[in-house]
Amino acid sequence: MHLTNQEEKMLAGEEGYAVQKNMQILTALGEIFGADKMIPVSSVQVAGVSYYNLGDAGLEYLETLASQGANTRVKTTLNPAGMDLENWRELGIDETFASKQKQLIQAFIKMGITPSCTCTPYLVGNEPARGDHIAWSESSAVTYANSILGAMTNREGGPSALAAAITGRTPSYGMHIEENRKPKVRVKVEAKLAAVPDFGALGYAVGKKIGPKIPLFEGLEGARVEQLKSLCASIATYGGTALFHIHGTAYGDKEMPTETLAITRPDLQGALRALNDEANEVDFVALGCPHCTLDEIKTIANLLEGRKVTREFWICTARQTMKEAEEFGYVHKIHAAGAKFACDTCMAVAPLKGRFTVLATDSAKACYYGRGTNDFKTRIGSVEECVNAAVTGKWS
Ligand code: F3S
Repeated sequence: MHLTNQEEKMLAGEEGYAVQKNMQILTALGEIFGADKMIPVSSVQVAGVSYYNLGDAGLEYLETLASQGANTRVKTTLNPAGMDLENWRELGIDETFASKQKQLIQAFIKMGITPSCTCTPYLVGNEPARGDHIAWSESSAVTYANSILGAMTNREGGPSALAAAITGRTPSYGMHIEENRKPKVRVKVEAKLAAVPDFGALGYAVGKKIGPKIPLFEGLEGARVEQLKSLCASIATYGGTALFHIHGTAYGDKEMPTETLAITRPDLQGALRALNDEANEVDFVALGCPHCTLDEIKTIANLLEGRKVTREFWICTARQTMKEAEEFGYVHKIHAAGAKFACDTCMAVAPLKGRFTVLATDSAKACYYGRGTNDFKTRIGSVEECVNAAVTGKWS
């Protein structure tokens, strides 16, 4: 791999041990994936923040890196942590976990990382422009950045994203090469999509059928940000692709692939059936996977007005978004109903195993992690159905 003079110096340790170690990680990755050079990145999103996932080994790694003087060179934000950093007690997090999680966050802050703790960095100020090379490591955000924002990023792991933040570089391969971003399957969405779960079901159905191949969707023109982030989360989870195109944007008709897939209403119904377990009682409701927008919070607040929840109900969002919601009075309505904000965290990275048995959500991705990480049964439905479940405890 060709390295510039400055990159050679980094690798030789002339900019310190932390930079050297992280340059070694990136050059090793570049060699594995056949990169011919490094490219500068303008933004980084680091995943692997929850103590639930990192444990003491991860904490030690990050604290060592921070104590060696590692520092970010570009705008760097964090994925959700294992708890709400302020109201963790209210969410039932114990002292030991909270103390370890705070140590982790301190290590990230020491390295110059903004503790935004959200999987929707693009909603709270880390929004790269079309054509920007970035290094993000949260699968739904990676797919959103590539597909909706037109930025260019591989699906980084936590350590490689951190290495990109510390060196300001990433190896040039995969999604950083224009040629690799061409659509491979034309997906005709013949069903009319309505609520957010339909978009999650679409991601599930397409992901299961074409895996990591890059789709070009027809029939999604005009989809809203809430619907698109749900699709990004789902297709990345169930298929593994880091990029899709929507007809009328990006490549358009010129690059129309020959392989074609039609998605009909029965395909979506099949996906929704697969995501729904047999369970009529619900003990945990969680919305905001990926993290809620202000508009989603408004909808939840209006649905909860004058009602009381009888089940644990989390609204997962970025702290900044929650603060905006406060100004509009949505937070007051939600708290008055007994529901809780889970800022900085989510239903997948908080330590919830054993606390609940049936999760109700509007997110296909939350179903995946609810089942896989926490052994929950899952029910997926519209936000109205989820709010009703939080109030009645029943899924109807
Ligand atoms: Fe975000 Fe957690 Fe879902 S990180 S995409 S809310 S699993």
